[in-house]
Amino acid sequence: MKKFWWQDAIIYQVYLRSFQDTNNDGIGDINGVIKRLDYLKELGVNTLWISPHYDSPMDDNGYDVRDFFKVSEDYGTIDDFKKLLKEAHQRGMKIITDLVLNHTSDEHPWFEAAKDPKHPEHKHYHDYYIWHKPKYDKLGNRKLPTQWVSWFGGPVWEYNPPTDSYYLHIFSKKMPDLNWRNKTMRDALKKVIQWWIDLGVDGFRVDASNHLEKNWDFPDSKPGYEHFSSLPKHHDYLEELGRDLFKPNDLLIIGEAGGATRKEAIQYAGFDSNEFNMLIQFEHCWADTDDTNKITPGKWAKGPIDLPKIKNSFAYWIDVFKGKGWNTIYWANHDQPRIVSHYGDDKNYHQESAKMLAFSLYLLPGTPIVYYGEEIGMTNVDYQNLGNFRDVEVFTEYDNFMRLGASHEVAMQSLRDRSRDNARSPMQWNTDIYAGFSKATPWINVNQNYKTINVHQQLQDKASIYNTYKRLLKLRQEEQLAYADVTFYDLDHPQSFNYKVSGKHHDFIVLCNFKGTELKMSKELNLESYELFMSNYDQTNNLNFKPYEARIYRSIKAKQADNT
Ligand code: GLC
Ligand code: CA
Repeated sequence: MKKFWWQDAIIYQVYLRSFQDTNNDGIGDINGVIKRLDYLKELGVNTLWISPHYDSPMDDNGYDVRDFFKVSEDYGTIDDFKKLLKEAHQRGMKIITDLVLNHTSDEHPWFEAAKDPKHPEHKHYHDYYIWHKPKYDKLGNRKLPTQWVSWFGGPVWEYNPPTDSYYLHIFSKKMPDLNWRNKTMRDALKKVIQWWIDLGVDGFRVDASNHLEKNWDFPDSKPGYEHFSSLPKHHDYLEELGRDLFKPNDLLIIGEAGGATRKEAIQYAGFDSNEFNMLIQFEHCWADTDDTNKITPGKWAKGPIDLPKIKNSFAYWIDVFKGKGWNTIYWANHDQPRIVSHYGDDKNYHQESAKMLAFSLYLLPGTPIVYYGEEIGMTNVDYQNLGNFRDVEVFTEYDNFMRLGASHEVAMQSLRDRSRDNARSPMQWNTDIYAGFSKATPWINVNQNYKTINVHQQLQDKASIYNTYKRLLKLRQEEQLAYADVTFYDLDHPQSFNYKVSGKHHDFIVLCNFKGTELKMSKELNLESYELFMSNYDQTNNLNFKPYEARIYRSIKAKQADNT
């Protein structure tokens, strides 16, 4: 069954800036990750994905890279990074880093040269980026080349007076997009990748990977995503990286690529693909939007949770990769709100819903990715003023909502519910000042609930969310659930999340009430040869499920030893 080392990976995503500060400047750092390796190992994690650690002006917390070869001074030094690799490897743990290939910072020396005709290397670097001459209306006013909309809201074009042209940025204007059609540029990035491989990283999470190719005819449309996302040619670029760099080095490559079709998914992450080993996609992430809301549109508008959509998405991706490639399972990352606030109930059923979410996900096949703080049920943050937010996307979208006619209150509520800053607050280690994250004021507010929700408390409590995660991750490995066959029950039921998986020693039936009202489970569930194995309530009552109640049943008889 097993073909590659990473099929047994249990990944934990560390948002570096917010995990652990060791030099008390209020910013998480590499030494902080080293300090917590034993904690993570104990939790059952064997692979860390570290969010961008490169030198950066931090417009988008490091996704805007200024120097690919340098560790950000916020986070430490290259020696700290080497030490992290060494300490992790000594514990049998792997380190994968974020790899940002779609854009650089506008402060990257390549862009500094590209934008300035007087720069001695202007000619060489200009074509590393994507430029377009202005258009003019009848009155001679300068117009944007197209109406394409950036992923952070607002236009994708920024005017650069010295060249009298616009550059393209599909994220913030401090993140100009690289021109992947330029082979010299590609070769320069390949040197970057080789450098980190030589240093000893075990793999990469390839950021924004489906955006590398653009439609260079620049047809006008709004928002125009189809002209800068998932264009077929981006596979050629990824294939080139895979062939030359990823595959020969036995790395774990996770590609961030939303919206892949079945065929394309295999192209990205089939066992024989040269591109990635695993894919991060998003169908299950925003299954609760109100599409009629035009004032805070898209993911920003809260609607009822469409549970069938969530379940069908998991079932779909498991099926897509069955026998052909490898699946990932995760609830959320640094780009979504906290899962217990998003799909659970962090006010009335914090523990219950956090555990229910864990039960429903972590027995499914594939490689799990746990987002920092999820294992203790960290929640959204009640940011009071716009000034409490830090994310560049918050500010561009706030302006966008205002343009669309939102009031300040409506805009703020939407940001409080949905912004990425919800999932970026400091890790809650204990009840000390700033939750034990730092002794200095953190770069972003600590969630006020750290006195009740923290690692220290949950380590002592056998029934805590932390200990539930620990048990589930251990169970995954013992039962080799990464390779399990799964059968979903009632995929279209709006309230239950039920499935059966076949482990190495036992079969398991997972039954979850996904909502805050009681639920009677179907009598057709055949639990005769099963016994209750785990539950998120002390008392269980037949097939009557309390709000967010979740149970795992285990087949009573163990399977015959299988020596294959
Ligand atoms: C990815 C990252 C996100 C970042 C964007 C631009 O979507 O996950 O955090 O803002 O790419 O690099
Ligand atoms: Ca620090």
